[in-house]
Amino acid sequence: MMYRSAIFLIVFSLFQMGCNTAQNAMVHSPNGRLELNTRTSEGILVYSIKRDGQEIVHPSRLGFLFKQQTGYADNLTITGMATTSINDTWEQPWGEERFIKDHYNELTLNLKNTIVDGVKMSVIFRMYDDGVAFRYIIPGSEPSEQFVMTDELTEFAVGSNPEAWWMKAYQWNRYEYLYEHTTLSEIDTVHTPLTMKVSDELYLSIHEAALTDYSSMSLEHTGQNVLKCNLYPWADGSKVKGQFPLMSPWRTIQISDSAGGLITSYLILNCNEPNALGDVSWVKPGKYLGIWWGMHLGTYTWQMSEHHGATTENALKHIDYAAEYGFDGVLIEGWNQGWNADWYKDGNVFSFTEPFPDFDLNAVTDYALQKDVKIIGHHETSAAIGNYEVQVDDAFRLYKSRGIDAIKTGYVGHGTDIVPVGGKPGDREWHHGQYMVRHYRNIVEKAATYKIMLDVHEPIKPTGIRRTYPNMMTREGARGQEYNAWSEDGGNPPDYTTIIPFTRLLAGPMDFTPGIFDLTFEKAGRANNRVNTTLAKQLALYVVIYSPLQMAADLPENYVNQPAFQFIKDVPVDWSTTLVPHAEIGDFITTVRKDRNSEDWYVGSITNENERDLVLDLSFLDTDRTYKATIYTDGTDNHWMHNPYPVDIHTLQVDKTKTLKLHLAAGGGTAIRLTPTNK
Ligand code: NOJ
Ligand code: CA
Repeated sequence: MMYRSAIFLIVFSLFQMGCNTAQNAMVHSPNGRLELNTRTSEGILVYSIKRDGQEIVHPSRLGFLFKQQTGYADNLTITGMATTSINDTWEQPWGEERFIKDHYNELTLNLKNTIVDGVKMSVIFRMYDDGVAFRYIIPGSEPSEQFVMTDELTEFAVGSNPEAWWMKAYQWNRYEYLYEHTTLSEIDTVHTPLTMKVSDELYLSIHEAALTDYSSMSLEHTGQNVLKCNLYPWADGSKVKGQFPLMSPWRTIQISDSAGGLITSYLILNCNEPNALGDVSWVKPGKYLGIWWGMHLGTYTWQMSEHHGATTENALKHIDYAAEYGFDGVLIEGWNQGWNADWYKDGNVFSFTEPFPDFDLNAVTDYALQKDVKIIGHHETSAAIGNYEVQVDDAFRLYKSRGIDAIKTGYVGHGTDIVPVGGKPGDREWHHGQYMVRHYRNIVEKAATYKIMLDVHEPIKPTGIRRTYPNMMTREGARGQEYNAWSEDGGNPPDYTTIIPFTRLLAGPMDFTPGIFDLTFEKAGRANNRVNTTLAKQLALYVVIYSPLQMAADLPENYVNQPAFQFIKDVPVDWSTTLVPHAEIGDFITTVRKDRNSEDWYVGSITNENERDLVLDLSFLDTDRTYKATIYTDGTDNHWMHNPYPVDIHTLQVDKTKTLKLHLAAGGGTAIRLTPTNK
């Protein structure tokens, strides 16, 4: 499938302009629409991007500052270049798209410093049809030379002043904020992905790929709509530490004609290394329920009490529910010693091997085995990294010995308050700095050696490393459903789930935990909180929000005698393809996915606080097939606040020549299963 060929898309010229020497190079995307120009001018390296001949990223600086080494920011000159073209297709072991096309033209620019001897740097630019990625490589002047980076100078000069959906960086609550929607000129320093709408035909999203041993990038607005890479610093103020050769993460700019095109762009995955784990048949997507939501509602406790959630008896009951519903797993939180102390303040209280006395790990895991249900383990570290790292091998071994091969981890803790192992007294690291990037990556690699899958809460943002480590399945990294249980601001507003598919979810899967059926918490007596959606929208989220581990988050008893629960039982978690026929950021989205293990298609369509009608063209369906469409929809009188519960469930015969009218109530949605009725 793969071929390499030398391509000559590059124009390389040297020309004299008075006393200035300018050098430039150019490379196009395979379809020719995107053009990247890069040049040194008076020793400064810049790049710019055009789409259809129009400049969409103006000349933007590249380069670095180091504490000791000089010469990586200016006095640069191009010494050579190489090009290649790749047209490949690779298969995901699990995912939202089975076969990923990896088609790009690549330009490697080699540079040296004209004044400082031995300074060499390469920048690799990849031009895809769906965007641009680039990374730096610095060999260093002698083997194993150490470096301390004080700044990465990369800029993204967007130039125009597009609408932007963003989340402030450097906040205590990490990535758990609502998105703001303003023009670019109004932003300060923000997390990535940063998604922007330049016009109805031009959407951009800036992020990074393959963040494995580097500080994470936020974007600082430095004026005139120029965004500059702003790396989370170490406690001592440096940005990145290491030893040459230095290979930066990819800086990625997804570029699309439509908002939906950002979602079906796999550029970030393409910029990650292939599967490093070999046979990953032990990595299995699945659905789970858990001893979890009750703690968030306050009807159960994590700690030992008369309302303790993780008792042996309750665990067995949940295993029964999972077996009855055909679910793969049961998450059990609050099973281990530590929760009775003030864990929120100090995670050193946790033991990851000692269960509470009312939780019999052996009895629970034996019963799970007997019922063919997997227990999903839980490690809340409360961001006490040292306490976790000294126990993690024993903890993984214990779980593994009891047949537990998926673990949810958690890093509740202040964004700036991580006590580093081996740091100086008083040192505190950022949740998003290189120290934690390394920690998360080390845990993923370690888990893989035990054949353990991970679902990480309070994670580092996803940058596609699931491609390299397919056991890194899903993560939080945004406000999940839990905010609806207890957030003082009233939870996630109705438009929230129409924003995250175009922002956080561009980076990778999310364990959002949909499927709350008791939307108003009357039984739990929580008058100030509720779920701000209709019931049908909870179903649609299973298709809209991709996660290979997908929870049915409500108390299992709330699903009893609920016809709409059938959709959650049916909906797959592993897909062969994904389409986004309707999309506008913050307003609505329809996602269509085909099951990887059958010929069924599923549709999830959701709206913000406004009701709307959409027409779904079914031309994606297979030719010569008829389908039974089982439709779970809001009724005409539904409203997320006033009347969220009724779900109209009906069936229709359809085929690819048909269209379906979707009525979405305010804060509502529609979920559809399409099953072939002929072969
Ligand atoms: C926050 C996580 O997001 C949540 O799912 C978990 O229940 C708590 N931390 C406790 O670990
Ligand atoms: Ca959380």
